[in-house]
Formats: sequence, C-alpha cells, structure tokens
Amino acid sequence: ICILSLYFCSTYFLTVASELSFPPLPFFPSSVITSFVFFFLQGECRNFIKVLLSQHSGLFVCGTNAFNPLCANYTRDTLEMVGEPVSGMARCPYDPRHANVALFADGSLFTGTVTDFLAIDAVIYRSLGDSPALRTVKHDSKWFREPYFVSAMEWGPHIYFFFREMAMEFHHLEKVMVSRVARVCKADLGGSQRVLEKQWTTFLKARLNCSVPGDSHFYFNLLHATSNIIHMQGRDVILGLFSTPPNSIPGSAVCVFDMQQLAHVFEGRFKEQKSPESIWTPVPDEAVPKPRPGGCAVQGSRFSSSTTLPDEVLNFVKTHPLMDETVPLLGHRPWVVKTMGRYQLTAMVVDTEAGPHKNRTVLFLGSTRGTILKFLMIPNGDSASHSSVFLEEVEGFNPEKCGEDSPQARQLLSLSLDRSSHTLLLAFPSCLVRVPTSRCHLHSRCMKSCLASRDPYCGWTRGSTCSFLRPGTR
Ligand SMILES: *[C@@H]1O[C@H](CO)[C@@H](O)[C@H](O)[C@H]1NC(C)=O
Ligand SMILES: *[C@@H]1O[C@H](CO)[C@@H](O)[C@H](O)[C@H]1NC(C)=O
Ligand SMILES: *[C@@H]1O[C@H](CO)[C@@H](O)[C@H](O)[C@H]1NC(C)=O
Repeated sequence: ICILSLYFCSTYFLTVASELSFPPLPFFPSSVITSFVFFFLQGECRNFIKVLLSQHSGLFVCGTNAFNPLCANYTRDTLEMVGEPVSGMARCPYDPRHANVALFADGSLFTGTVTDFLAIDAVIYRSLGDSPALRTVKHDSKWFREPYFVSAMEWGPHIYFFFREMAMEFHHLEKVMVSRVARVCKADLGGSQRVLEKQWTTFLKARLNCSVPGDSHFYFNLLHATSNIIHMQGRDVILGLFSTPPNSIPGSAVCVFDMQQLAHVFEGRFKEQKSPESIWTPVPDEAVPKPRPGGCAVQGSRFSSSTTLPDEVLNFVKTHPLMDETVPLLGHRPWVVKTMGRYQLTAMVVDTEAGPHKNRTVLFLGSTRGTILKFLMIPNGDSASHSSVFLEEVEGFNPEKCGEDSPQARQLLSLSLDRSSHTLLLAFPSCLVRVPTSRCHLHSRCMKSCLASRDPYCGWTRGSTCSFLRPGTR
C-alpha cells in the first residue's frame, strides 16, 4: 500500500509538473524519473494538515493531499467526514512548506495562501459563505510580493492579516523584507463589472514599525508570530514577535501595537509611485477620490454596496493598496529585545491570566534552538511604556523522545499554551513535548530565592516550599 500510494503520489506530481509545462526530460525512462521524484518527494507527498478550524459542532480541515489540496468537514467527537470534500485551492497551499492562515467569520472562510504549485499567485480569499467569493488581484506586485502569512484576526468590521513580504516602496538594489498588516471588510461584495469584479474593493495594507529608537532607527523587519488580540489596561493590543533578517546581526524583539492606532493608519494617507523610476510619496488629499477608497460600504448611504462604487474609486484602491504611514509601536520601543549570538526567536504564546489572581501577563518565546524563554510583562501606570523581566530559559527539546539531537530536529514548528494543565505544547519535526509553565520546585529550598525568581506562577506556601499557585490560591 505504501509503495503504491507513493507511486501514485509521484505520478501525480509529474502530472502537475507537466501541466505547468516543465521542460521534458527526454533522456530518462519514466521509471527513473519516478524513482527520482520518489526519492525527493516521499516526505512532501504526505497529506499535511494546513487548516484546522472549529466550525459549529465540527471541524473544518484542509490538507496538501500530495500536492492536490482538499478540504472537508469532520465531526468533532468521532472524526467522521461529513459531506463530500471540496477543492482546497486558494484555501490551502500545495506545498507543506508554504505558510498559510485561515479563519471563519460571518459564516465565510477567509484564507491567506498561494493558489498554485510554484507559490507565485498569493491570495487573500473569501469563500464558502453566503457572500460572493472574492480574491486579491492576481500577479500584481503592489498587492503582494512573495508574502509569508503569519496570522489572521477578526476585529470590528474587518479581517486583519499579518504577514511579511518583499518591500516595493524602497529604492534599494537588494531585496528588503518588511512586515505588514492588511485588512479587508467582511461586508465587501467586490467591484463593478468594469473594475475589480470578484475582487476586494477594501484591501489596504500598511507596514508594521518594530524598531529601537536611536540616531538611526534599528528595525526588526521580519514578523514571525503574533498573539491574539488581547485586552490590556483598557486597550485592545496585539503582540508581534520580530527578528532581523538572516544575513544581519541576529536579534529578536517583541513589539506591541494598539489596534485603535493600527486601524487609524488605514484612515491616513495613501502611498504611490508616480513612475517606475520615481520614489514613493504620499498621495495629496485632493488627489484622493470620494467616497474614500477602501472604506466599508455603509448601509443606507449613497453607496450601500461596493459593487456600485464609481470606477474612479475602484481604480484608485486597485492601484493604491499601500498606506503611507507605518503602524506605530506602543511605548515607542519594543517590550522585549534579545540580541544574541546563536539563535533567533520564532514562536510566541502569551498567558494573560498568569498567577493566583489571573492578572499577570507572561510571555513564552520559542527559539530556533528548541528552548523557551519566559518573560514577565510589567505594565507601568500610563500603560504606554512597559518593561519586562526575564524569568528563565527552559529546554524544550527532549532527545529521549525526539531522537537524534541536531539543529534540524530542534526546529520548533509550533508552540501553544494548554491553560487547563498549565503546560506548553512544543511541536518539533519528530515529536511533541509537554513542558510545565513553571518549575517552582527549583527554588523550594529557600524562600528568598522563591520570591526573587519573580515567577508569578510560584509562591512560598505553608509547609515551607516554593510551589505552583493555582488560580484562586490566597
Ligand atoms: C463545511 O462547513 C462549512 C460551514 O459549516 C460549509 O460552509 C461548507 O460548505 C462545508 N464544507 C463541506 C466540504 O462540506
Ligand atoms: C518608526 O517609529 C519611530 C518612532 O517610534 C519613528 O521615529 C520612525 O520614523 C518610524 N519609521 C517609519 C519607517 O515610519
Ligand atoms: C492582582 O490582583 C491582586 C488581588 O486583587 C492584587 O493584590 C494585585 O496587586 C494585582 N496585581 C497586579 C499586577 O495588578
């Protein structure tokens, strides 16, 4: 069965490849090609689950299915398939290595992925609901340039997508990667038959500014992970974990963005390049058509549906998806900055309910070495400036469970928090490891060291030990 399925998988791959008109390989019999493909692709041919969402009482699942992505609904308790599978195109990538995001909102599925085998056509796509299917403009580098999707969030009338991509607004010879947030209106119905038909009329994007102030600003340009939108001291904020590019000084930073300020950037000026040689400049207000391009259609107003917008407005939003201002970081500096010789931080989870009173915030950051760094966030009175305390670094990789120790085996694929068991779940290429959120027993000999650890999960209790404090402990 195994050999047969791999045979079909590699044959399938060849079919896909030939459809994309790869140069033929005339000198080799097909069996040689098959074994060649077999050798290189036996891993990739598996069905990698890339979308897993809770929907009503079931699960919505998409997998790469040997470069032929499919989606289907399953019951949650018995994991039985409900109905027929549908194509996963534009909902799930072909290649397991391609990053993608997905969420359900207002009964529709919103996805950020690539629609083709070679990952050339990146898309933000809406489908499956009562609203018409919509996508981003195809092969337009103003809309996307090699994006890497990180997360998607619903907030107010919009869906926000966080990603990184090649910048188009600089005049550098080398490629520069920047981090972005893009948004679309949930109620978008697409453009008119002349402009943006079956495409978003509300797609706008802005750069995220995660930088350290100084004479010349130092930027952390690569977004790796975001938190959910969390409520902190009267604000909705989102935390982003950023790093410097691989060929630069290694460094990582956590920046916090206020969702109000973030949304405000989309009300500001647009950016444009007048000719292919000129630099990018803000669009003067008088050159922006009315009603304001990119806004959500308002019921009862003159333009109650995006399909009736004037061509001028639709053409403007089609050619001006980028905002001029960057999204400012809260407090003007990152909350955590870590520059170190040998590894970067690429995964993040936030516990906003840490400690016995559930009112402390702890940040867990996963490194490319398979370790977890733990920080306590300390808000200051005015809530715009914050500081953090480094608590501990915990080994996550476990050679006993995960097999041979190597840099590849230590690549952390995902990190999540299981609140009910007070543990973190770490996924490595060959194993899943559970690590407790705290190790209070390490300080159990001495009250001073227990308190000095500043670990909000730990406290000195009756019986003279340093122990984990369950929520509600007095
Ligand atoms: C799965 O469920 C969603 C939402 O309930 C529905 O829109 C979709 O059509 C279903 N898909 C399949 C393949 O049955
Ligand atoms: C990023 O923010 C800082 C202030 O925190 C500002 O000085 C800098 O100009 C901003 N960079 C960009 C590209 O907007
Ligand atoms: C958390 O709540 C407790 C009890 O209400 C209070 O004593 C403590 O100061 C609070 N801590 C923070 C950091 O708000």
